[in-house]
Amino acid sequence: MSITLGTVKFLAIFNASFEAVGAELPDLSSITAGASVLPAFTSPTYSPRARWDVALWTRLLSKARSPATALSPGIEPGDCWPFAGSYGTLGIQMPSTIHVSGITVAHTEVSSLPSTAPRNFVLWGLEQAENPAVVRLLEGQYNVTGSHTQFFGVDGDVGRCAVKIDQVVLEIESNWGFKELTCLYHVRVHGQAV
Ligand SMILES: *[C@@H]1O[C@H](CO)[C@@H](O)[C@H](O)[C@H]1NC(C)=O
Repeated sequence: MSITLGTVKFLAIFNASFEAVGAELPDLSSITAGASVLPAFTSPTYSPRARWDVALWTRLLSKARSPATALSPGIEPGDCWPFAGSYGTLGIQMPSTIHVSGITVAHTEVSSLPSTAPRNFVLWGLEQAENPAVVRLLEGQYNVTGSHTQFFGVDGDVGRCAVKIDQVVLEIESNWGFKELTCLYHVRVHGQAV
């Protein structure tokens, strides 16, 4: 396919509307909607180890957030759930059984903190069935130079859209370069009630 200016414009418009879609879909994984954190599937919250860490903690994360922070709105700098290093998981108990259609990931807008943003991730779901199975729902890469709020759909696979899910695990595989910790600001799981 030859890329024309028209194509580029279309893709730009498409991407913009895709991001808007994520922002407007019902947030089924919010604490206020009845979702909760599954501690058994959730990484420990980052805690400072050394003196300089304490200084960092105070500067960036003075509010010392719990994992539930990532299931609540708010992307002010520091309004995030921090976990140590660049790998971590967040387990979410959904308020009801759903067919998952996608996930929205948001990071703070402030350009001085991009390296703490998640990079590659996988969304897993626990299938509610006679023989429960773990299903890989989607994989994505948060674009740290893009919009602060980004939507990732469970698309191209009817089978994965049809699975009945009431627990999900977001597995962050890497971040954008900050060695000490990764910060999850806001994660929203979207779907339809079964
Ligand atoms: C990330 O977003 C920027 C700004 O919208 C865009 O120019 C770039 O192509 C995107 N990168 C990827 C890998 O999608």
